[in-house]
Amino acid sequence: MKTMTLTMPLDMHVHLRDGEMLETVAPLTSYSFSGALVMPNLVPPVTTLDMVRGYKKRIQAAMESDDFEPYMTLFYQNYSRSFLEEVKDHIIAIKLYPSGVTTNSEGGVASFDIEAMRETLEAMSDLGIILSVHGETNGFVMDREAEFMSVYEMLAVHFPKLKIIMEHITTREAVKMLDQYENLYATITVHHLMITLDDVAGGMLRPHLFCKPIAKRPHDREALLKVALSAHPKVMFGSDSAPHPKHTKESCGCGAGVFTAPIALQLLCEIFEANDSLDNLQAFVSDNAQQIYGICPDFKEVVLVKHDFVIPEMYGSVVPMRAGETLTWSIERVD
Ligand code: DOR
Ligand code: ZN
Repeated sequence: MKTMTLTMPLDMHVHLRDGEMLETVAPLTSYSFSGALVMPNLVPPVTTLDMVRGYKKRIQAAMESDDFEPYMTLFYQNYSRSFLEEVKDHIIAIKLYPSGVTTNSEGGVASFDIEAMRETLEAMSDLGIILSVHGETNGFVMDREAEFMSVYEMLAVHFPKLKIIMEHITTREAVKMLDQYENLYATITVHHLMITLDDVAGGMLRPHLFCKPIAKRPHDREALLKVALSAHPKVMFGSDSAPHPKHTKESCGCGAGVFTAPIALQLLCEIFEANDSLDNLQAFVSDNAQQIYGICPDFKEVVLVKHDFVIPEMYGSVVPMRAGETLTWSIERVD
């Protein structure tokens, strides 16, 4: 039977939440990944060293395996250099949210005033802390990411030594930026490699596919597929797996987020196999991220096998993407 072995898979953008939800989702990510970049958009957001330490401990307590590294982040604010020096060994990135663009981002950046941000961004650049960015404006929903490109350009030019990650890119405009600025990198989700806006809202509304940034046009998905399938050295996998309880997704005022953590590697095998690119999957799910972040996760090997896997209807209170459907790849074992 056809198999695919991935060593040290990494999810460089995941939402693990807290409390009961953390108990549900942390074991799912820690089972099949060696490490993950954990987003800080809790309520209240993670903004102090004590909060980072406490959150990491709660994640480690909720994991079922100890061969998983939660790479921690802070929620971007204008932090002082002395604070960043104190915190730098406990985080690998700071996540910047423009205010109000997505779940729990109300405390984010209201205006991109470079001078106001200079101390923080220069200190991050000197200390090797990566800037991870949710790149959307408050404009028309389909244009928000493309409109944000001028902010990325401004950041990339003013802080040339700062590594900037364009998180969960969804447009050909963002793909183009990768080759224009040396210090811009990107994560790509598995759902944005599969769906367009049509899948979300072209027929009956599918709330479990609703996320921010919203899925875009076919030509955008093609541009994402091109760089993911070729494992462009500046892109890496970040699931943006974002669990919300079923009743909050299947309701008026549905929260943004697609839950893919337990099926991400299986889906990636399907996509890369269908496009004759399985040889590049290792780089996309691990090697590129190790290079970009300069991280060296503990050894873990995930063996996938070409064997049907029926996606459960629920994981705890959460409905996963493609619930109840059959995948052609499954995880055989993790060593
Ligand atoms: O769809 C999303 N869900 N996008 C984000 O940026 C945040 C996330 C969440 O936290 O639910
Ligand atoms: Zn996210």
